[in-house]
Amino acid sequence: MKKKLLAFSFAMAFTGTSSILHAGDAIDAGKEKAAACASCHGDSGNSLVSTFPKLAQQHSSYLVKQLEAFKNGTRKNPMMSSIAMGLSHNDMTDIAAYYAAQKISANELPVLDDDDEKPAATKASVDPLQAIIAQGSDLYRNGDLSREVSACIACHGPFGEGSKPAAFPALKSQHADYLIKTLTDFKTDVRSNNPENMMHMIAKKMTAEEIKAVAYRISMMK
Ligand code: HEC
Ligand code: HEC
Repeated sequence: MKKKLLAFSFAMAFTGTSSILHAGDAIDAGKEKAAACASCHGDSGNSLVSTFPKLAQQHSSYLVKQLEAFKNGTRKNPMMSSIAMGLSHNDMTDIAAYYAAQKISANELPVLDDDDEKPAATKASVDPLQAIIAQGSDLYRNGDLSREVSACIACHGPFGEGSKPAAFPALKSQHADYLIKTLTDFKTDVRSNNPENMMHMIAKKMTAEEIKAVAYRISMMK
């Protein structure tokens, strides 16, 4: 009898909808399910490989949206598509609840390559890395209205915290290499599931140098 009951409650835990689970239960369930993601996204969603995005502290609504997009093919990535195929909507909301509750790790300062372009205004006395980050900071806060590059701050917030209700992703402390890759994907329309094409419209007007500058700046936001 006891065994039967146990089997029953076990089955319930997997078939129950997240609406009857408490948030803490979803986080616990998500933690177990996220074990399959750790090899690329790190133990608590803080990936160590800079082209694998950190998922820690990201808004759950945004995470679910992206997982659904990988599953239905509107966002394309060979690694993520096959993984998302294996997830139910319930799995996605549990995993998203788990990652949203983790703390994102800070990054080291980016290292400039010798052939990196220096911003035009760089004076000999200014550290070129700091000049690039300052350029990125200006773009993040003010955009470039003459070229219709909207200020990132308007949607992603003063600290890169994004907006949960609007599903604007948090950006702070994300890896610079992933940011550069995904902004370039928006620019070239490789990543095209963004609402009303808003990120494509912005990224297509940015130069590679500007993408790098803003990515460096965002990677340093805490
Ligand atoms: C083999 C490596 C690998 C594994 C395993 C993996 N991912 Fe990913 N994931 C990636 C890569 C690479 C990207 C970036 C795709 C791109 O550039 O568009 C990504 C992107 C994502 C994104 C989008 C993040 C963003 O900021 O837009 C989410 C969400 C995600 N993965 C969730 C998961 C979950 C949940 C699991 C486990 C069930 C998982 N991933 C397992 C490699 C992996
Ligand atoms: C009008 C609102 C808006 C503005 C302005 C905006 N973004 Fe976004 N951004 C979004 C939305 C919405 C998404 C999510 C797209 C999706 O769902 O695929 C996004 C996604 C992103 C992502 C992908 C995050 C990830 O984890 O993969 C990056 C990077 C990004 N934006 C950078 C920027 C930068 C840099 C600027 C300024 C130059 C900017 N955004 C301006 C709305 C905006």
